[in-house]
Amino acid sequence: MDLFHLRSLVILLSAVGCCNGQSVLPAGPLEGVQGKNVTFKTIIIPTDVGNFITVSWNFNGGSGLVPVVTSAPKGETVGAGYAGRVSLNSSTGVLNLASLTAKDVGDYAVTMVTSAAVQRTGATLLRVLEPVSAVTITSNLNEVVEFNSTVVLTCSAKGSFLTYKWLNGTTPLVTDGKHVTLSANSTVLTVAGVFRKDLVGPIYCTAFNNLESDNSAPFNLTVTYGPENIAMTVTPTAEIQKKGSNITLTCSAQSSPAAVLQWIHNGVPLSVVGPKLVLDNVAVAQSGNYSCMASNAKTLRYLESTTAKFTVVEAISGAKITGPNGTLVAGNSTANLSCQATTGTADARVWLKNGAALSPSNRVVVSADKSSITIKPVQKEDSGEYQCKLTNAVSTDSASLKIVISFGPETVSVKGVNSVKVTEPVMLKCAAVSLPAATYTWKFNGTLTGVMTAEYGIDAAVATNSGIYTCEASNAVTGLSTSVNHKLSVKEEGTPDDGLSGGQIAGIVIGVLIALVLIIVGVRYMRRKKIPIESPY
Ligand SMILES: *[C@@H]1O[C@H](CO)[C@@H](O)[C@H](O)[C@H]1NC(C)=O
Ligand SMILES: *[C@@H]1O[C@H](CO)[C@@H](O)[C@H](O)[C@H]1NC(C)=O
Ligand SMILES: *[C@@H]1O[C@H](CO)[C@@H](O)[C@H](O)[C@H]1NC(C)=O
Ligand SMILES: *[C@@H]1O[C@H](CO)[C@@H](O)[C@H](O)[C@H]1NC(C)=O
Ligand SMILES: *[C@@H]1O[C@H](CO)[C@@H](O)[C@H](O)[C@H]1NC(C)=O
Ligand SMILES: *[C@@H]1O[C@H](CO)[C@@H](O)[C@H](O)[C@H]1NC(C)=O
Ligand SMILES: *[C@@H]1O[C@H](CO)[C@@H](O)[C@H](O)[C@H]1NC(C)=O
Ligand SMILES: *[C@@H]1O[C@H](CO)[C@@H](O)[C@H](O)[C@H]1NC(C)=O
Ligand SMILES: *[C@@H]1O[C@H](CO)[C@@H](O)[C@H](O)[C@H]1NC(C)=O
Ligand SMILES: *[C@@H]1O[C@H](CO)[C@@H](O)[C@H](O)[C@H]1NC(C)=O
Ligand SMILES: *[C@@H]1O[C@H](CO)[C@@H](O)[C@H](O)[C@H]1NC(C)=O
Ligand SMILES: *[C@@H]1O[C@H](CO)[C@@H](O)[C@H](O)[C@H]1NC(C)=O
Repeated sequence: MDLFHLRSLVILLSAVGCCNGQSVLPAGPLEGVQGKNVTFKTIIIPTDVGNFITVSWNFNGGSGLVPVVTSAPKGETVGAGYAGRVSLNSSTGVLNLASLTAKDVGDYAVTMVTSAAVQRTGATLLRVLEPVSAVTITSNLNEVVEFNSTVVLTCSAKGSFLTYKWLNGTTPLVTDGKHVTLSANSTVLTVAGVFRKDLVGPIYCTAFNNLESDNSAPFNLTVTYGPENIAMTVTPTAEIQKKGSNITLTCSAQSSPAAVLQWIHNGVPLSVVGPKLVLDNVAVAQSGNYSCMASNAKTLRYLESTTAKFTVVEAISGAKITGPNGTLVAGNSTANLSCQATTGTADARVWLKNGAALSPSNRVVVSADKSSITIKPVQKEDSGEYQCKLTNAVSTDSASLKIVISFGPETVSVKGVNSVKVTEPVMLKCAAVSLPAATYTWKFNGTLTGVMTAEYGIDAAVATNSGIYTCEASNAVTGLSTSVNHKLSVKEEGTPDDGLSGGQIAGIVIGVLIALVLIIVGVRYMRRKKIPIESPY
C-alpha cells in the first residue's frame, strides 16, 4: 500500500514537472479523524507568500489523479466530490479538508507557481483514522476470591492505530511483573492471586492514537475475602453473672460478602445466627464457653473467635435458720441450728452470736461445711440471737434466730429478820435466778404453808411463828428446785435479856435528838439577840 502510494507520488510529481528546491509540505504521513477535518500546512519562504499565481491540489487514492482544488487568477476550481469540504488559502497554499472519510486516504500533492514563474511542489500521505470508541474492559471471572483468583482483564476498543493505557483510579496503573502484569501490547492486564483492594481503583482502560483517546467505563469487580479479624465481646464483661441479668454478646469479622455468624455454646452450635446474641434473664445452665464462628459462602473460609467464659450464679435468698423446736434446758439439751437458703448456693457461711463472730468451743461445734452448729449441752450463756450470713459471688443473705436456754433456779436466798417481838410484822423475801422465773412454795417447820409467792408475810408475830421457814424455788421447765431455810424467833414482851425493844430504843434516840436540836437552836437564838450572859468562868 505504502509502496504503491510512493510510486504514484513519484508519477504525480513527474507529471507536475519540475522538482527543484525543497518540498513545501512537512514530512508525513498526515493524520485526520473520520468525520473531522484536516489541515495540510505548507512551508514556504516569506517572499513567496501572496505571490502565487496558481495553487493546485491533487489527490491520488490509488485509482488515478483527481483534482481537489485549484486557485488561479480567474478564480477557484473545486474538484468533484470536494464541494463544501475544502478551503484553500491562496496566499499560503494551506488546504483544509473537512468531513473526512476512508476514501480520503491517499497521496496529496500541491503545486504552486509564483509570479516569478517559480514552481513550488510538495506531496504527503493522509491517513484517515477511525474514531476511538467502545473502549471496554472484560473480565475472565465474574466472582473472584482473594488470594485464589487470577483476574485477567482485557481491554478492547474500536479505532485505528490504537495503543492502550490503564488507570488505577486517577493514577497510571503500576505493574510489578509478578502480581500485576500487562501484555506487551498492553491490552491484557493480569492480576494473579488478586487482593481485595486491587480492583477498587476503579480500573479504567484508555485507548488512544495520535489524535484521540477514549476511556472505558470504570471497571469494578468485588473481590470476596475473609472472614478475618474476628472479634467477640461480652457485655457486661464480668466473669460471674447474676442469674436473671441480661448479657449481650457481639461478634464481628471482616468479610466480603458479610460473614454468616454462628454462635456456639460449650461447643454446641446455637440456633442463633447474626452479630448479636442476647441472653435475657440468663439461667445458670447458660454458663460456659461462648464463641462465634464466621463463615463466608463465597470464599468457603471460616474462622472461629476466641472463647468468652462466664458463670451464671443464682443470688442467695430465703436464708433461714432452723433451730430446735422444744425448750432448751441448760446442761441437758442439745441445740442444732442449721442455716439454709431457698435459692442460691453459698460460697461462704459465717455464724454470729449477738452481732459478734461466734466462737466455737468444746460445746459449740460448727459443722465442717459451716451449714449448722451444734451446742451440746446448752448453757445459760448460750441464750441470744444467732445469725448466719450466706455469701456468694453475686449476693449475700442472712437469717437470725433467738434462742432461750432455760436454767435455774440458782442462788436462792431468803431475806428478812431473824427475830421479832410479838405483835410485830414480819416479811420474808425469797429470791432466785431462774429462767423461766421460779415459782415458790413456803414450808414452816417442814410443813407446806400454802404460800406460793416470793414473799412470806406475818402481820403480827405470835410466839408460835418461831421456827424454820423453808423457801423452795422451782423451775417447771428445768424441773429443778432449790430450798433455803430461814430461822425466825418471836420474843415475848418484857423478856429481860431482851433489853430495850426496837421501839424503846427508837424513842430514846428520838428524845436525845430533839433535846440536842433544841439546845442548838436556843444557843443560836441567844447569840442573835446578843443578850449578854455573864460567863460563869
Ligand atoms: C476543523 O476542525 C477543528 C476542530 O476539530 C475546528 O475547530 C475547525 O473549525 C474545523 N475547520 C473547518 C474548516 O471545518
Ligand atoms: C491566508 O493565510 C494568511 C497567513 O496565515 C492569513 O493572513 C490570511 O488571512 C489567509 N487568507 C485567507 C483568505 O484565509
Ligand atoms: C495483544 O496481545 C495479546 C497477547 O499478548 C493478543 O491476544 C491480542 O490479540 C493483542 N491485541 C492487539 C490489539 O494486538
Ligand atoms: C490500585 O490502587 C490501590 C490503591 O493504591 C492498590 O491497593 C491496588 O493494588 C492497585 N491495583 C492494582 C491492580 O495495581
Ligand atoms: C460498578 O459500579 C457502577 C457504578 O458505581 C455500578 O452501576 C455497577 O453495578 C458496578 N458493577 C459491579 C460489577 O459492581
Ligand atoms: C433484661 O431485658 C428485659 C427486656 O428484654 C428487661 O425487661 C429487663 O429489665 C432487663 N433486665 C435487666 C436486669 O436489665
Ligand atoms: C470451657 O473451656 C475450658 C477451656 O478453655 C474448658 O476447660 C472447659 O471445660 C469448658 N467448659 C465447658 C462447659 O465446656
Ligand atoms: C483457595 O485456595 C486454597 C488453596 O490454594 C484451596 O484450598 C481453596 O479451596 C480455594 N478456595 C476456593 C474458594 O476456591
Ligand atoms: C419442729 O416442728 C415442726 C412442726 O411444728 C416439725 O415439722 C419438725 O419436724 C420439728 N422438728 C424437730 C427437730 O422436732
Ligand atoms: C443438725 O441439723 C441438720 C439439718 O437438720 C442435720 O443435717 C445435722 O445432722 C444435725 N446435726 C446434728 C449434730 O444433729
Ligand atoms: C417449830 O420448830 C421449833 C424448833 O425447830 C420449835 O421450837 C417450835 O416449837 C416448832 N413450832 C411449831 C408450831 O411446831
Ligand atoms: C435431762 O436429761 C435426762 C437424760 O439425758 C433426761 O432424762 C431428762 O428428762 C432431762 N431433763 C430435762 C428437763 O429435759
